[in-house]
Amino acid sequence: MGKVKRIGMLTSGGDCQALNAAMRGVVKCLVNSKEKVEIYGFLDGYRGLIYGNFRMLGGHDFSGILTKGGTMLGTSRTPFKTIREPDEKGVDKVDAMKQNYYKLRLDCLVILGGNGTHKTANLLREEGLNVITLPKTIDNDLWGTDMTFGFQSAVNIATDAIDCIHTTAASHGRVFIVEVMGHKVGWLTLNAGMAGGADIILIPEIPYDLKKIVSKIEERNRNGSSFTILAVAEGAISKEDAKLSKKEYKEKMKNYKYPSVSYELAEQIQKATGNEVRVTVPGHTQRGGSPCPYDRVFASRLGAEAGALILKGEYGFMVGYKNREVVKVPLEEVAGKLKMVSPDASIVKEAKLLGISFGG
Ligand code: F6P
Repeated sequence: MGKVKRIGMLTSGGDCQALNAAMRGVVKCLVNSKEKVEIYGFLDGYRGLIYGNFRMLGGHDFSGILTKGGTMLGTSRTPFKTIREPDEKGVDKVDAMKQNYYKLRLDCLVILGGNGTHKTANLLREEGLNVITLPKTIDNDLWGTDMTFGFQSAVNIATDAIDCIHTTAASHGRVFIVEVMGHKVGWLTLNAGMAGGADIILIPEIPYDLKKIVSKIEERNRNGSSFTILAVAEGAISKEDAKLSKKEYKEKMKNYKYPSVSYELAEQIQKATGNEVRVTVPGHTQRGGSPCPYDRVFASRLGAEAGALILKGEYGFMVGYKNREVVKVPLEEVAGKLKMVSPDASIVKEAKLLGISFGG
């Protein structure tokens, strides 16, 4: 038996389903090997690593958590933008993370997170720490992996929301907007929208034209469909707004009177069509509850492969998924890039063939 491997683990950024399943996968793989391991669970994301707030975890801590949503370690957002700025007490955050890593004589850090998390993970790698990451987020917007865990569970929840809206929309003959999370990308809306049979899907990658949305609703009215369902990404944007510079858009949003784009659209559609319009926002329910079976398997696989990399001493990678294979992707290729839906993607083309309007 070799020396003890000391592994630090943390979950950072917005939570999602299957974080626990992924951590369990890593630990199960390590515990099943002949290696002796010590697991240091840093609490509340990078904050735990900065301030040395951790719990020693044993194999028993990881039993019974495969099906549990959330994260047993807690999480928080530590913006990358300000990671090099000292905190309110003057603590140098990057230096503090490195010091804690070395003080605990860690062999590596396993970091579970999305986009922002990966930028900091890559920074720590550049600073000389051994890092392995796992791709979590309901948004599925992480570069270097075809899929992130949490995504399929969120698709299920958003789809359920659209399914439920179907019956009430039909009873009342209303137009319904279901606003779906996803930050700046449309993966979740596109998939839940198709799964839920939405008539119109609006995603940030395809700026919408209100006239096209109205004409689709009127066409449905003329054809005797008494209701219309729109799946609208929280980041959906009109063609006019998409033309604005970042500065102009920011300026415009200062006086924005709606809670989100869906409410603005609802008002515009009601005015243009005379149809009654309602908005439903499933919000953070999309990140909550148990991981779906797909995510349990998927996160366990990625976790196990992360454990295998640790056993081989291979660091500096995200464990991702490409062309139906689990792969290791160099962290420098992942950090700072957004994986968006291409307007030319075959799924978009097929959705259009089904008669779904993207309002574009
Ligand atoms: O990144 C996951 C996500 O749920 C996005 O879809 C959403 O825009 C954001 O996080 C919400 O963040 P918060 O939990 O901080 O409100």
